[in-house]
Amino acid sequence: MNPICEIEEKKKMNKMRFGIIGGGVIAPTHAQAITGNSEAELVAIADVELEKAERMAVDYAIPHVYEDYQELLKRDDIDAITVAVPSGYHAEVVIAAAEAGKHVLCEKPLEITADNMTRMTAACRKAGVKLGCVFQRRVSPAAIITKKAMDDGKLGKLVLGDAYQKYYRSPEYYKSAGWRGTWALDGGGALMNQGVHGIDLIQWLMGDVQSVFAYSSALVREIEVEDTAVAVVKYKNGAFGVIQGTTSVYPAQEIRFELHGENGTIIFDDLGFKQWKFADSEEEMPQVPSTLSSKDDPKQIANHGHFLLVDDLIQAIRENRDPLITGEEGRKSVDLILAIYESARTGKEISLV
Ligand SMILES: NC(=O)c1ccc[n+]([C@@H]2O[C@H](COP(=O)([O-])OP(=O)(O)OC[C@H]3O[C@@H](n4cnc5c(N)ncnc54)[C@H](O)[C@@H]3O)[C@@H](O)[C@H]2O)c1
Repeated sequence: MNPICEIEEKKKMNKMRFGIIGGGVIAPTHAQAITGNSEAELVAIADVELEKAERMAVDYAIPHVYEDYQELLKRDDIDAITVAVPSGYHAEVVIAAAEAGKHVLCEKPLEITADNMTRMTAACRKAGVKLGCVFQRRVSPAAIITKKAMDDGKLGKLVLGDAYQKYYRSPEYYKSAGWRGTWALDGGGALMNQGVHGIDLIQWLMGDVQSVFAYSSALVREIEVEDTAVAVVKYKNGAFGVIQGTTSVYPAQEIRFELHGENGTIIFDDLGFKQWKFADSEEEMPQVPSTLSSKDDPKQIANHGHFLLVDDLIQAIRENRDPLITGEEGRKSVDLILAIYESARTGKEISLV
């Protein structure tokens, strides 16, 4: 057998063994990403509503089912877990997993308070386990191509970086699980749940934010958190930007990102690039496949991103390196959203530095 085939064979024999904690809406996407990876094996699932875990076990041939995730964490044959419980429970589960010596891939948002994010990242670093965060937009073809263009300085001095996220979520959506639309467990609404994806992406592309001024309110839905927010941001590099997030417009619009510099403009949404123009070069607009968009249906989530992020966690463990999106990276969007909420509450500009 040639040496490369031998390495591949060894990896398959030495599979990374996973457990999933939380068996709700996003759990099938986790299961598909794990079972679809030739280097991974899905060993167990836990959900406080046991029947949900049992249903997942049937659908994905998962041998072990638990009601209490602590029991799952006691298994010494599990290397890594994915966290798919309500956002306000992420810290509890991630810290318990780190203390049990398990690597973690945690759903977005990393958590909903700054203190909890600090405790989670510290616990994982202390235990020497990897903590990866699910922000699948970062691994979409359009985002990867755009990031390279930004890193190559193709736009020149950056001027504007905008994220427009106009989702539709019905009143029934907010009633579909008790934690949705609550400060205690969702941590916010249109921004903390849906818009966190685009906020992570625009910050990754444009660079960190220095300060923010915002409005945020429940304009339509009867929920305690916001269904609509608008923020103007100043990036550390001096550029400005607009971030919009709503779950209450009909119809939902394609989630859209607009990046402008003195030498160029890149605009894309989930259907592909809309503009790719530079002052110094004639370039064809890159063609990328459109991605499934959850703009009006929370279940329309392409599993491609989760697949890549599960694989990245496996390779990060094997190579003993950080995952693509570490806890420290993953928290930036939440820190910005918390600043947006504070600005809306106080009517003041909030600094993030
Ligand atoms: N990346 C994405 O595109 C994406 C999409 C949807 C949801 N999410 C995130 O995934 C998380 C879950 O969202 P969802 O829509 O699947 O929610 P959900 O309510 O459908 O599922 C959450 C599940 O966790 C279970 N649970 C609650 N507490 C638990 C505990 N202590 N131990 C074990 N199980 C517990 C619940 O019974 C429920 O089945 C949220 O943080 C959400 O933001 C991410």
